[in-house]
Amino acid sequence: MNDGLVFELRNVSYTYGGGVVALRGVDLTVHAGEKLVILGANGSGKSTLLKILDGLYFASAGTARAFGASLDERLLADDAYAFAFRRRVGLVFQDSDVQLFSASVWDEVAFGPLQLGLSQAEVKARVEEMLALLDIRRLAERPPYRLSAGEKKKVCLASVLAIRPEVLLMDEPTAGLDPRSRGMLVEFIRRLNAEGHTVLTATHDLDIVEDIADRVVVFDEEKRLVAAGGPSEVLADEALLLRANLVHAHPHRHGSVEHAHLHRHFQAHDHQH
Ligand SMILES: Nc1ncnc2c1ncn2[C@@H]1O[C@H](COP(=O)(O)OP(=O)(O)O)[C@@H](O)[C@H]1O
Ligand SMILES: [Mg+2]
Repeated sequence: MNDGLVFELRNVSYTYGGGVVALRGVDLTVHAGEKLVILGANGSGKSTLLKILDGLYFASAGTARAFGASLDERLLADDAYAFAFRRRVGLVFQDSDVQLFSASVWDEVAFGPLQLGLSQAEVKARVEEMLALLDIRRLAERPPYRLSAGEKKKVCLASVLAIRPEVLLMDEPTAGLDPRSRGMLVEFIRRLNAEGHTVLTATHDLDIVEDIADRVVVFDEEKRLVAAGGPSEVLADEALLLRANLVHAHPHRHGSVEHAHLHRHFQAHDHQH
């Protein structure tokens, strides 16, 4: 689909107005066809990074490039460039409410294909395909803002995927999804990637990492990229996961025996094992 480099970040930092530092000195190279997971606890800078990669925010320091061109404000302010860029890179936001704006699910999913200038028949075919894929055909006439969190997430995914971007950025896509939808999404990420799409997923859902990554980068709570490696290697590094606040240790009882071991932070767990 696209050989070579997709993103190239050199020493990128980002500071929000008011002085909140959200990324510190990040070096990251993403190649076409990769499936990369960005792991990090809440507040570690994942969403900020994805917004930089999507050309919504611009590095406060350092350089960020996409497809060989600098991701700078002036370039993205050019309508023709921005249009071409938005065709190639799609972001599914963490917060679905920020993304959804149409009166019906159908219109929401049709928006991107209409922007691309496809014919009515092509638009209809794409919308139908996406609604079927995400199993939301029955929601087509519903207003997106009245859906459940998981349903909204599926509509957001459908609306971004309808554009068929080369590079798909997803910000905590499994948050709020039931197990079946989560499984469906994981399968879908794998399929897209097998077709040649580059897929970057920010998450702290450790259970899906091995299925959707050939490479993992880890952010710590200082907003630094502190590790990169294969998924099994990263997931086996308990000291790293503990340091990055992706697992925690706490004492509890097994019958009469009290001891401490590691727990993943973001899944429900009980202590009856
Ligand atoms: N709009 C904003 N204004 C100021 N600070 C922000 C804003 N959005 C995020 N931050 C801060 O930037 C840091 C990184 O946030 P974020 O990129 O959302 O992390 P993550 O997605 O990993 O949870 C956090 O300290 C957060 O509080
Ligand atoms: Mg986030």
